[in-house]
Amino acid sequence: MAKSPSFSCTSCGAVHSKWSGRCDACGAWNTIQEDAPLSTGPSKKTLGGARGAQVALTDLAASEAPPARQASAIAEFDRVLGGGLVPGSAILVGGDPGIGKSTLLLQAAARFAGAGMKTVYISGEEATAQVRLRAGRLGLADAAVRLGSETNLRDILTTLDAERPGLAIIDSIQTMWLDTVDSAPGSVSQVRAAAHELVTHAKSRGTAVILVGHVTKEGQIAGPRVVEHMVDTVLYFEGERGHQFRILRAVKNRFGPADEIGVFEMTGTGLGEVTNPSALFLGDRETPAPGAVVFAGIEGTRPVLCEIQALVAPSPHSQPRRSTVGLDGGRLAMILAVLESRCGIPFAGLDVYLNVAGGLRVGETGADLAVAAALLSAREDVALPPDTVVFGEISLSGALRPVTQTESRLREAAKLGFTSALMPERSKTGPDTGIEARKMPDLPALAGGLFGAG
Ligand code: TYD
Ligand code: MG
Repeated sequence: MAKSPSFSCTSCGAVHSKWSGRCDACGAWNTIQEDAPLSTGPSKKTLGGARGAQVALTDLAASEAPPARQASAIAEFDRVLGGGLVPGSAILVGGDPGIGKSTLLLQAAARFAGAGMKTVYISGEEATAQVRLRAGRLGLADAAVRLGSETNLRDILTTLDAERPGLAIIDSIQTMWLDTVDSAPGSVSQVRAAAHELVTHAKSRGTAVILVGHVTKEGQIAGPRVVEHMVDTVLYFEGERGHQFRILRAVKNRFGPADEIGVFEMTGTGLGEVTNPSALFLGDRETPAPGAVVFAGIEGTRPVLCEIQALVAPSPHSQPRRSTVGLDGGRLAMILAVLESRCGIPFAGLDVYLNVAGGLRVGETGADLAVAAALLSAREDVALPPDTVVFGEISLSGALRPVTQTESRLREAAKLGFTSALMPERSKTGPDTGIEARKMPDLPALAGGLFGAG
């Protein structure tokens, strides 16, 4: 009996038994495609009677030293990797086209090569002359990086086998193809098979492999999510268009903390490191304006201060607008509902716009109180004192819940010249942070006490 076709989503890789217009798993439209069968694969259902070789098992407490990490000397990049590159690891760097992945990895490659690691950069998108041109612009023309321009994975693997580099960068996984798979480069089966070959190569030869993956909206090209589960580390490079800041975020890391971020700035000569992101995100703050609130957040292991801005205006539409940039829209809806039902402050008939300044994306629930304060401040047209930071989680009852790492948030705020902090009542503040802690039991206390609303 012929095997029935299977379908998978090119965005998240979810497998479906039939085609449909929308993927149930990730909600994307027009991303489901029929899978081309892998030409290599099991032909029988069971393994049969043949015996395999016995696998040698070892103890968890091995006597060998853990593999030494290699630092790139780009501190923000090493931080996101969890303290440097682990030999033999497979890393995926995903991001929108044009965000700066090739630039970042060329700079990292040059640094690794400079530190004495044999580094190979294979571009499937640009000719070697174009990569050289870019390297010249970045001031890296003399770096000892070995360049190749190729998309045939069989040739690439043969080359890597001969060269035995410490690090191989494959830009991008969507341009690679295997001659054993009958589908176009960029399709789910090609991307999966190519990533599998490269990850296997990394593990068996001890070469660290960095795969570049473009995030795509259309269904023609498989997105990086398709290979997320195969690699050790998944990094996403993100940033708002029109902002020069770029954030490299670890969403999965087998060798370090996830959620760690590295902050970069795109300049005319490549990406520069931003060692003090709080100062940068608050850098161009104007005089205290209604609707602007400084949120003391935590990104990974590091405190980051940023400004949350709200605008509340009468709506000309029957269905008022709720628009967010850098924050979750669902979370805004929840906070508006709590303000409305627990504090009696209606937002019906009002358009609400919310923005995180500088292009940062805040996913922490600890931003709730800052969002509520920004909304109230905008609605009542009352500015918060300029030297105040805000953090705390709001529960549906309107009560405020303490968040983690209160002390390091306060220390970061003190470092940047803030003198007081609005926070939930049960927050554990340290002995002397130099910040006046203004503790609030619930949201009505904030609305009434600070803004005279509710
Ligand atoms: P690129 O690394 O090619 O993006 P990706 O590989 O993610 O598709 O980056 C392209 C963008 O970066 C392009 O819009 C121009 C900008 N850029 C600079 O601003 N300065 C530079 O020095 C370089 C090399 C690129
Ligand atoms: Mg590129």
